[in-house]
Amino acid sequence: MNALIKSALPAVASARGDIALVLLGVGGVGRTLLAQLATPAAQGVHLVAIADSTRQLVNARGIVPAQARRLLGDSPQSRDDNALLAALDASGLAERVIVDATASAEVASRHADWLARGCHVVSANKAALGERLDGWNRLRHASRQSRRRYGDAATVGAGLPVLSTLLRLRQCGDSLLALDGVFSGSLSWLFNHFDGGRPFSDLLREARERGYTEPDPRVDLGGADVARKLLILARAAGHAIDAHEVVVEGVVPEALREIGVDEFLARASELDAPLEALRVAAARDGQVLRFLARLDESGRARVGLVAVAPTHPAARLSGNDNLFALTTQRYREQPLVIQGPGAGAEVTAQALLGDVLALRAAH
Ligand SMILES: NC(=O)c1ccc[n+]([C@@H]2O[C@H](COP(=O)([O-])OP(=O)(O)OC[C@H]3O[C@@H](n4cnc5c(N)ncnc54)[C@H](OP(=O)(O)O)[C@@H]3O)[C@@H](O)[C@H]2O)c1
Repeated sequence: MNALIKSALPAVASARGDIALVLLGVGGVGRTLLAQLATPAAQGVHLVAIADSTRQLVNARGIVPAQARRLLGDSPQSRDDNALLAALDASGLAERVIVDATASAEVASRHADWLARGCHVVSANKAALGERLDGWNRLRHASRQSRRRYGDAATVGAGLPVLSTLLRLRQCGDSLLALDGVFSGSLSWLFNHFDGGRPFSDLLREARERGYTEPDPRVDLGGADVARKLLILARAAGHAIDAHEVVVEGVVPEALREIGVDEFLARASELDAPLEALRVAAARDGQVLRFLARLDESGRARVGLVAVAPTHPAARLSGNDNLFALTTQRYREQPLVIQGPGAGAEVTAQALLGDVLALRAAH
């Protein structure tokens, strides 16, 4: 028996309610989840496999989280989902969960199959919930049929309790009349700082250097990421809308949409004049620009740049905070507002861990 197995023996001597866990993705979020799995909060959660896009490490008897990344780096095993599923089965634990900390559409396309096979799935990856409606329906169906949970807390607002709050309100018979907000940390930061002091492209360069934007900032500026989060929330609120039904008005001019990333970055100053004109027009009315998402009572969904009055909650945001304002039957006079960091590895990993730990709540 090698040192790895010996130090991980508690995985075998499991208690009722213990959970076997496979982690896909060891980037910013996945590696932070590994650190959290090493804390007492995660007692009873046993890591049995870990993978990145090309390699994996499998040990049904348990992998010590603090050693997992180093061992993965040395692992000769190439990617094979069947071996991951076999490790969950071989763990002998009743609760088996696959955590998706990738951004891979291909990985997301397997979530429904894993649920159908009897595994819980916990995901920070929005691709399964926030794309086509048939994919979302397949997930719901698989989860219901197999009685396995789909943990989605990390898909919207990182660690902010947005989806759970919406679910709770609906369970209590409340219904959503409107949902407004700023759902993107990078767009929040950009427009919170766009006050006429610096050209927009200058701010964009800084946001990219700080790691706030995607490597290709058009993913943020085009509104696709915000649209996915709005779709996830709309569906959770009971509106079965499809991706093409969200009106998306991004801020990338047509001429910059189809070119390569490097060329886009070199030509980013072409964003400056049109955005400055909008900013000046808004300022003339005492307003500021914010990139908002909005869902109304009948399920109409829109994301785009809006000029808002200084009294609007989004006008007072700072840093890269997210804001979700839920107007419901019972929060009709004043919306229920959830605000705070909507990105970051620590809080996103914690949202994943919370969904994992919720699996043992029934025991
Ligand atoms: N960072 C945040 O603040 C935040 C907030 C909310 C939600 N999220 C979501 O969380 C997810 C992870 O974000 P991140 O920032 O950690 O991304 P990241 O740093 O780019 O890491 C992605 C990881 O996924 C791995 N991966 C890709 N394809 C895979 C496959 N087929 N099988 C197994 N692993 C695969 C990558 O491996 P390679 O290195 O081999 O490519 C890498 O380890 C994304 O969906 C993101 O949208 C992030």
